Amino acid sequence: MQLVSTVAELRRRLAAETAVAFVPTMGNLHEGHLDLVRIAREKGRCVVVSIFVNPLQFGANEDFGRYPRTLQADCEKLEGLADVVFAPDERELYPQPQQVTVIPPLEDDLCGAFRPGHFRGVATVVTKLLEIVRPQFAVFGKKDYQQLFVIRQVVAQLNMPVEIVGGETARAADGLALSSRNQYLSADERTKAVALRQTLVAMREVMLGDATDYDELAREAAENLTAQGWRVDYVAVRAQSDLLPPRAGERELVILAAAWLGQTRLIDNLEVCI
Ligand code: PAF
Repeated sequence: MQLVSTVAELRRRLAAETAVAFVPTMGNLHEGHLDLVRIAREKGRCVVVSIFVNPLQFGANEDFGRYPRTLQADCEKLEGLADVVFAPDERELYPQPQQVTVIPPLEDDLCGAFRPGHFRGVATVVTKLLEIVRPQFAVFGKKDYQQLFVIRQVVAQLNMPVEIVGGETARAADGLALSSRNQYLSADERTKAVALRQTLVAMREVMLGDATDYDELAREAAENLTAQGWRVDYVAVRAQSDLLPPRAGERELVILAAAWLGQTRLIDNLEVCI
């Protein structure tokens, strides 16, 4: 496995590759990331993983400063799984003082309503990375459901020649979605954290029954979480196809939620086909 930090070096390394599968990450890799890398390995002959904590996608009061940076440990985990690790520094990826910005659809909705500018930052860095790596396949986790949707939109609208692949969410034994941010949780918060997943599973049961007022269901779920000590950003039921509120008769739905336990913001989602 080769560790590369410049765009020029990466382009030289990939020049002769015809089936590149790419997994963009911010590092601090866990089993969920490694699952995505395994999917990439099935898809392509050369697997590239990027590790870059992207300042553009963090708000002023968010955790950019304390986001865990663990490049050496990450490389050890990728040994035997990836062929190339691309770990540029900030100047390499953003050499100009004024950055061209990609503005994606739905940037002010769901998580975007609570993280202004976040999806611009994601869309911008992913567009740059896809242009630099020029993979045939790129793999993203379904845990970041809105992010996956936004990236599919950007790729389709910019006619980028890459297939976007969604990887299932990896979970701890109690059901909590794996996330680098889980390590911010105290022991007590970690015990409580499973309630987010449980809430979505309970909502799905009701939806598979005869419930049709999804807004009311989402409101009740948010109230339940609040009563258990969470600070809820949102719980919402949306259409899988466009992440808009479901139209009458819409059957392929997804429940999305974001909520805080103490200083840690957790997200999760669950697809429901009724
Ligand atoms: O999901 C992430 O880790 C990041 O948002 C991504 C896609 C690597 C862009 O920085």
